[in-house]
Amino acid sequence: MTAAVRSGSDYVQAGNEVDVVLAAYRSRLPVMLTGPTGCGKTRLVEHLGAQLGLPVVTISCHDDLTSADLVGRFTVSGGDVAWHDGPLTRAVKTGAICYLDEVVEARHDSLAVLHALTDHRRTLYLDRSDEVVTAPDSFMLISSYNPAYRSTLKDLKPSFRQRFVTVPLTYLPPDRERDVIIAEAGVAAGVAERLVSCATAIRGADKAFHLEPPSTRVLVAAARLTAAGVDEFTAVESCVLAPLSSDGAISDGLRAVASAVFP
Ligand SMILES: Nc1ncnc2c1ncn2[C@@H]1O[C@H](COP(=O)(O)OP(=O)(O)OP(=O)(O)O)[C@@H](O)[C@H]1O
Ligand SMILES: [Mg+2]
Repeated sequence: MTAAVRSGSDYVQAGNEVDVVLAAYRSRLPVMLTGPTGCGKTRLVEHLGAQLGLPVVTISCHDDLTSADLVGRFTVSGGDVAWHDGPLTRAVKTGAICYLDEVVEARHDSLAVLHALTDHRRTLYLDRSDEVVTAPDSFMLISSYNPAYRSTLKDLKPSFRQRFVTVPLTYLPPDRERDVIIAEAGVAAGVAERLVSCATAIRGADKAFHLEPPSTRVLVAAARLTAAGVDEFTAVESCVLAPLSSDGAISDGLRAVASAVFP
């Protein structure tokens, strides 16, 4: 029997992280989610938005992100100069959830504008437009990053990190990860269990393999291919094993782990 495919904002808790994030929301504190790729950080933010009935404004951080990209800028059109709020300012003004994805990629000077927003002031000082915006109670700032990607050149300042309630996420326990795969891909329990066994074996040996372990995301993708008629081993090779290496090559060791699960 297969479960119906669900999509959207279903989030399955690994521990008590949803309770902690909801308590942070009620306490008007910003949250920092950390964890490996595909472990549910974005899904948790979507879930929160749905649960609280708030829109989520997502900003993907990168090297070139400026504070003007966050707060807004003056633009000239037809001789008129007008101020345009950036996504962060819009989120503050409308009391939305603002999600700064991979915040560690942004430069420190771009993030400085967040300091007054992430402490007791909950205020955005827009120097250029000479505006002061205090966040309504419903506004929440959530940041995230993957500690494994962080190079020694990129780190968040202690004065930034210590403004956030930090919630480390990890992969779900096997039975819950299996349920997520069934729900997301509509496959039979046996398929989901084999995928989780394979991932668990690789995750347990990730030091030997020198790689970032396979995520729940790749397991869901493999399950979807299987549901679309691809045989399980091919689906695992394409979605789970090959993406682990930068060149798509599958080592003999990895293939042996998968072969033990998918004979
Ligand atoms: N706890 C969970 N509950 C429900 N689905 C999950 C969970 N964790 C992972 N998933 C599944 O894995 C997919 C990837 O999760 P998500 O996009 O939230 O990862 P992420 O942590 O944001 O990764 P990245 O750091 O690469 O952005 C989801 O679309 C969902 O199918
Ligand atoms: Mg994400």
